Amino acid sequence: MKGDPIITVRGLRKAFPTNGGELVAIDGLSFEVREGWITAIVGPNGCGKTTLLRILAGLEEPTGGSVEIDGNPIRGPGADRGMVFQEFALFPWRTVLGNVKFGLEVKGVPKDEAEAAAMRFIELVGLKGFEGRYPRELSSGMKQKVAFARALVNDPRVVLMDEPFASLDAQTRNLMQEELLRIWEATGKTILFVTHSVDEAIFLSDEVIVLTQRPARVKKIFNIDLPRPRDRTSLRFNELRRLVLKELSEELRAANGAAY
Ligand SMILES: Nc1ncnc2c1ncn2[C@@H]1O[C@H](COP(=O)(O)OP(=O)(O)O)[C@@H](O)[C@H]1O
Ligand SMILES: [Mg+2]
Repeated sequence: MKGDPIITVRGLRKAFPTNGGELVAIDGLSFEVREGWITAIVGPNGCGKTTLLRILAGLEEPTGGSVEIDGNPIRGPGADRGMVFQEFALFPWRTVLGNVKFGLEVKGVPKDEAEAAAMRFIELVGLKGFEGRYPRELSSGMKQKVAFARALVNDPRVVLMDEPFASLDAQTRNLMQEELLRIWEATGKTILFVTHSVDEAIFLSDEVIVLTQRPARVKKIFNIDLPRPRDRTSLRFNELRRLVLKELSEELRAANGAAY
């Protein structure tokens, strides 16, 4: 049910071995991702955000603590988690349709059915008419939409996004945020996304989780109770922006030895 925890992270620890020691990326991190919500994670550069998403995606193993989805320990990648990560670039030799239907093909869904489903999601993200194009023929924003459609077509429980709009110019970025909200409203999907931008986090999400500098744990969680569509110039928006920025800048200062 909407608002119930889907992903539960408890006392998570992740250490990477280094020559003669270890680098602790995450330590004592606990939070929940709730069904139907958009949850944003913000934190200083290098604090462990991508590591966290990779653990939730099943690409890295925790060193300690637990990560569960629907009450089951996460042991590897699964179709219940859709990923929109920079590193999972589109297949350049496949068309838009070929990229979006890929996951269904792997699952053995019959060709006609896979194509019909892929086309529904291509249309949903606003790329109807572009299904025969190759990634090199698309803008960055369009490629992100293909990646989003490719994640959604498998009907995941949660979509995990790692700084999905980081490489876009400011205008495209704002448009993509609106698109993300439109698609979220149409599908009711649960979304967990990492962003550098406090503005983006407050504009999009129901909950903003601020992480500490490395090793990452929860610094503060903000409930974003603003009605949608949100007005970035409203008093309450700016009040929230100030509160979140304060928490984040304390960590940035700590991470940089009070350099700014
Ligand atoms: N595979 C790895 N081996 C060793 N160190 C790693 C590895 N992956 C990430 N790290 C380190 O863990 C820390 C957190 O990295 P990351 O999760 O990418 O941060 P963020 O996404 O918040 O910028 C960094 O110090 C990074 O260098
Ligand atoms: Mg990262």
